[in-house]
Amino acid sequence: MPRGFLIALEGIDGAGKTTQAKLLVKWLKSNGVEAVYTSEPTESEIGQIIKRHLRNIRRRYSEEAIALLFTADRLYHIEKVITPALNKGKVVVTDRYVHSSIAYQTVTTGRRKWIEQINSIAPKPDLSILIDLPVNQAIKRIKTRRKHLYEKHRFLTKVRREYLRLVKNGQMTLVDGRGDRLTVNKRIVDRVYEKLINKNIIFRY
Ligand SMILES: Nc1ncnc2c1ncn2[C@@H]1O[C@H](COP(=O)(O)OP(=O)(O)OP(=O)(O)O)[C@@H](O)[C@H]1O
Ligand SMILES: [Mg+2]
Repeated sequence: MPRGFLIALEGIDGAGKTTQAKLLVKWLKSNGVEAVYTSEPTESEIGQIIKRHLRNIRRRYSEEAIALLFTADRLYHIEKVITPALNKGKVVVTDRYVHSSIAYQTVTTGRRKWIEQINSIAPKPDLSILIDLPVNQAIKRIKTRRKHLYEKHRFLTKVRREYLRLVKNGQMTLVDGRGDRLTVNKRIVDRVYEKLINKNIIFRY
């Protein structure tokens, strides 16, 4: 059975995940690699509860309950989208994955060990890229967007710290998110190219 390759793009709100995930899929396809874009939270019922929670000021569920829902939504994502695509040998680019839960829900619940534990059920990504951007710059990029719960400066500073911790302990690869879209795209492509060559998914030309 051919097995594909799972790439997660991560970062604080406004870091450029969606922009870069789409540019990466475009680049992969233009190099003859079958690639798919997908994102979390998903469109499932569980994903919709999560999205509603993030938009609302008044919280209906505890942060622990939301942490469990993020994980449940991820299991749905894995079963319905990620695994089938990987089994077809595709490269899956997911806009947020398990390290989002570890970074954000560690901050919202203060229970790092427990968050790591519940998320250990998800298969590890082959490559998890942190698009790192100073909080001020990220907020500036999304300031026209309606603010939701997770977009506060102090909060995002803590989340960024959690992500950087994951880089330090070797679970994530850091990419500088500053600069224009194509500059950041080139940095990401360099990291991905190196990995895919090693796996013979892409060939030197
Ligand atoms: N390199 C860049 N320079 C300037 N603006 C950018 C850059 N990359 C993305 N943007 C713009 O910044 C905003 C945020 O980018 P994007 O939506 O890709 O971030 P995100 O990480 O997916 O955010 P969220 O976590 O809220 O989904 C968008 O309006 C996007 O067009
Ligand atoms: Mg996005």
